[in-house]
Amino acid sequence: MKILITGVNGLLGSKLFELLSTSEHDIISTGRTQEGLAATALDITNEKQIHQVLEFHKPDVLINTAAIADVDLCETEKELCWNTNVKAIGHLIDACKKFNVHLIHISTDYIFDGTSGPYKESDSPNPISYYGKSKLEGEKIIIESNLNHTIIRTILVYGVHAKSNIVSYVKKSLENGNPVNLVDDQHRMPTLVDDLANACISAASKKALGVFHISGEQMLNYYEIGSSIADYFSLDTSLINKIKTSELNQKARRPELTGFILDKAKKELNYKPTSFTNSLEVFKKV
Ligand SMILES: NC(=O)c1ccc[n+]([C@@H]2O[C@H](COP(=O)([O-])OP(=O)(O)OC[C@H]3O[C@@H](n4cnc5c(N)ncnc54)[C@H](OP(=O)(O)O)[C@@H]3O)[C@@H](O)[C@H]2O)c1
Repeated sequence: MKILITGVNGLLGSKLFELLSTSEHDIISTGRTQEGLAATALDITNEKQIHQVLEFHKPDVLINTAAIADVDLCETEKELCWNTNVKAIGHLIDACKKFNVHLIHISTDYIFDGTSGPYKESDSPNPISYYGKSKLEGEKIIIESNLNHTIIRTILVYGVHAKSNIVSYVKKSLENGNPVNLVDDQHRMPTLVDDLANACISAASKKALGVFHISGEQMLNYYEIGSSIADYFSLDTSLINKIKTSELNQKARRPELTGFILDKAKKELNYKPTSFTNSLEVFKKV
């Protein structure tokens, strides 16, 4: 199969590139500009460019990892957020329809309000941030389009990548002797990017239809995540300060308790999440 990746230099995009490079599939790696892992420039807000790239490469599947994934930035840069997370999805839908491409799109636990997690795919969304609203609208237009699609929702993704994420941030801070403030009133099922990428590849291979929840299997608050990292790497736990969300003054509201029920993905995508502790092994080398 020919698989086109958007946002290939991002956390998920680069892991997909790595895993697909050693698979039987052909990869068309694209990024906002032609740099890093991106062999081809594809700005998903550029309708004309999408049509040109799809017409030229004729992929079977397009995995859209490109997004504005910074939750606080979406609160202040609403137009950028909507253009990328919603309007651009409309352009991708049109082009995928025209060139008969199966669309795999990544969404988020932030479409839920966090009052009744863990959530199953059919639970009612109620986003409490602009990011969540934009991602839900992106989902809606895909579902209403009648295009063959997979929507993969995920939670707090981490892995080895140049850009900071929860695990790399905590590990690096503690190694440098710097204190970290971590909330104990936001609960998540953090997701190893390798697991998420494998689920995307499984969905692509099967051209699976519908919405799937993909995350780790352990519900942890941020303080517990930090403590597990400190224990695993024998770092100083006393540098971790337990705080409350209200002390952070973040621009966007966060759901309190998310987490996913993973039965559908386990059954239909053969999804096997890595335990949080085992997943930390990948950070040993960095
Ligand atoms: N990370 C998480 O914790 C998390 C949780 C739930 C859901 N998700 C979802 O998972 C998906 C992947 O997230 P990620 O963590 O891999 O994000 P990421 O590391 O920020 O990667 C996103 C990539 O998209 C690119 N991009 C942004 N605007 C673009 C445009 N107009 N055209 C082409 N590329 C563009 C970015 O490039 P630049 O660097 O040039 O901006 C970046 O390389 C997103 O849909 C996100 O909403 C992520």
